[in-house]
Amino acid sequence: MKIFIDTANVDEIRDAYSLGIVEGVTTNPSIIAREGKKFEDAIKEIAAIVGDETYIFGEVIALEADAMVKEAHEILKLHKNIIIKIPMCKEGIKAVSRLSKEGIKTCVTLCFSASQALLASNAGATYVAPFLGRVDDIGWDGMGLIHEIMEMFDMQGSTTQIVAASTRNPLHIIGLAKAGAHVATIPYKVIMQMIDHPLTKNGLDKFLKDWENVPKA
Ligand code: G3P
Repeated sequence: MKIFIDTANVDEIRDAYSLGIVEGVTTNPSIIAREGKKFEDAIKEIAAIVGDETYIFGEVIALEADAMVKEAHEILKLHKNIIIKIPMCKEGIKAVSRLSKEGIKTCVTLCFSASQALLASNAGATYVAPFLGRVDDIGWDGMGLIHEIMEMFDMQGSTTQIVAASTRNPLHIIGLAKAGAHVATIPYKVIMQMIDHPLTKNGLDKFLKDWENVPKA
């Protein structure tokens, strides 16, 4: 399972990329707004950190298919490997169908059901983004949704990949890997939580303390 980082914060992206295990950056309008920068500037700053080959996800704001397609073409000018995020809705499916016929990579976002994921796949979306945490937030089964979409895509031989979004904790990430999700997009804080373990810290402290007793000459 690939790991993307779900942020537009350049310090977080720089630090996470230094680990060598992050392969993409996802943004959405809320994430961009948090940084207080123009969308174009935010994407260009991210691109300068991650380089040409990394996927950067940028979302359209338009709500009508023609305008979405036009906006997508503008966003594509910002970076070599942009994935166009399109919200799940009637106009969004129209736009994804058109963009995929042009060979443009898309991600249908705000996916909360298997039926939405099926339509995204049939429209030719490169990715579909089910929002795991937000499904859990309303007391439904977010991980169950991921399993259902995976099973359906496997049965249908779909080439659309699941980029599981709205991930909130390390258990989410392990569940996604076990479910076979193609990608998890993860907030910086959760990536760091995946590294930490109290027994690792205690163990390292003890190794270093015991090392003081090893003769050095
Ligand atoms: O990628 C979508 C994600 O950013 C949404 O996360 O935590 O706002 O539900 P959250």
